Amino acid sequence: RRRERNIGPMVGNRLPKKMLALLKTAGELGRDMGWEIYAVGGFVRDILLGRPNSDLDLVVEGDAIAYARRMADLLGGRIKAHVKFKTAVVILADGQRVDVATARLEYYEYPAAMPTVELSSIKMDLYRRDFTINALALRINPGRFGQLVDFFGAEQDMKNKVIRVLHSLSFVEDPTRILRAIRFERRFDFQIGGQTLRLIKNALSLDLFSKLSGTRILHELQLIMVEENPLACLNRMQELGILEAIHPLLKLSGERMQVLMELVKVNNWYKLLYQKPEAEPWKLHLLGLTMGIKRDQIGQITSRLRLTAREERDFILLRDQIGEALMKLMSWREDRSRLSRLCAILRPIPLEGVLFLMARSKKEHIRRNISQYLNRLRDITSDVTGDDLKTLGIRPGPAYTTILARVLDAKIDGRATSREDQLRLVERLWRTMQRRGGAQCEGT
Ligand code: CTP
Repeated sequence: RRRERNIGPMVGNRLPKKMLALLKTAGELGRDMGWEIYAVGGFVRDILLGRPNSDLDLVVEGDAIAYARRMADLLGGRIKAHVKFKTAVVILADGQRVDVATARLEYYEYPAAMPTVELSSIKMDLYRRDFTINALALRINPGRFGQLVDFFGAEQDMKNKVIRVLHSLSFVEDPTRILRAIRFERRFDFQIGGQTLRLIKNALSLDLFSKLSGTRILHELQLIMVEENPLACLNRMQELGILEAIHPLLKLSGERMQVLMELVKVNNWYKLLYQKPEAEPWKLHLLGLTMGIKRDQIGQITSRLRLTAREERDFILLRDQIGEALMKLMSWREDRSRLSRLCAILRPIPLEGVLFLMARSKKEHIRRNISQYLNRLRDITSDVTGDDLKTLGIRPGPAYTTILARVLDAKIDGRATSREDQLRLVERLWRTMQRRGGAQCEGT
């Protein structure tokens, strides 16, 4: 089988001009230093799939760190080197990052079946990777620019839309690849191949997940949760028993799925309206995934996923706040309750919690009002300030907080919309407080 074919024209057509120029320069530098340079991994995969990808990974059949240094000198940039791994990141002046690695020969044992004569360092480097579609390389040295190197049938797999591992120990070596397989499968609308699926099931039956650190699982979950369709991934995880392998309490029940679906809709709606601040996807999804888990059990999940002490505390607090807000919202009547009360319920809750409440509420009027809160109410500020209170002769003290909060409520509820109305309200409130004997406050 021919292992190389020229895709230069496709590379030229599909890459932005700037990226193309960078590749050419990187190739010329390789020639000057006497080393073969390849673009590899997701970058090459996405050229073939016609998807944008600006994460450039290069492999050098030579000294990656020396190469990275020269590149930074040539193009203006800085490098971060990992001497131990013989890798470096070049950060160019415009922010573009280029990951550079030394082609690795020693990473895994040579499989006995592989004819030694054929081994080149790029081949071994590619062989230690996760899936065929990620094990492509693109030559970029002048004269060979645009030669696609495909040792493992990646192009065929792309045509057949399959995710396939390169060898049977792939998941044993790195069980997080199971989550990656699902992520790529759902992202590209591919299928995990038959043998690869058997290897996944085998890895699960060997309980490899239990040996995987929470930090790595959480990292992979986070990557899933920023995919375009995280729920498709979660569904697939459920189907293969992976959620339960992570922790038996993490089961995707119908109810959790329902809320997660709403949550994605609500979050998309929110992102369309506001770019910032964004809700953190993992917090949103973890709220949905842990719905119904009792407070005394939630620690099992947070410690399995190795949340930091602070993340754990915040997450548990968030769940408590949501629980409390749900109770309060039950008695919230649109016709009789004030919007200021809704604000008081929602204001202390971080964005993830507010979006979760919106997704979770079955009552239409509550959803509508939470949306109104996010749209408008949370930004309302009163038109009087502490300085105004001072001018009115009220001595600074705790009364300020009370008065200003009451004025804001009145504005939210439409009872004191103009500054004049609000100033009058201040005076009225102050008189009442004095009558009630607010000893700590003095009027004039
Ligand atoms: N890789 C691997 N095993 C892993 C993680 C990564 O073999 N557990 C390899 C893959 O070949 C991958 C490359 O390292 O292409 C770079 O990893 P990463 O940047 O995470 O992957 P991408 O394929 O670029 O994925 P994405 O499009 O999600 O960025």
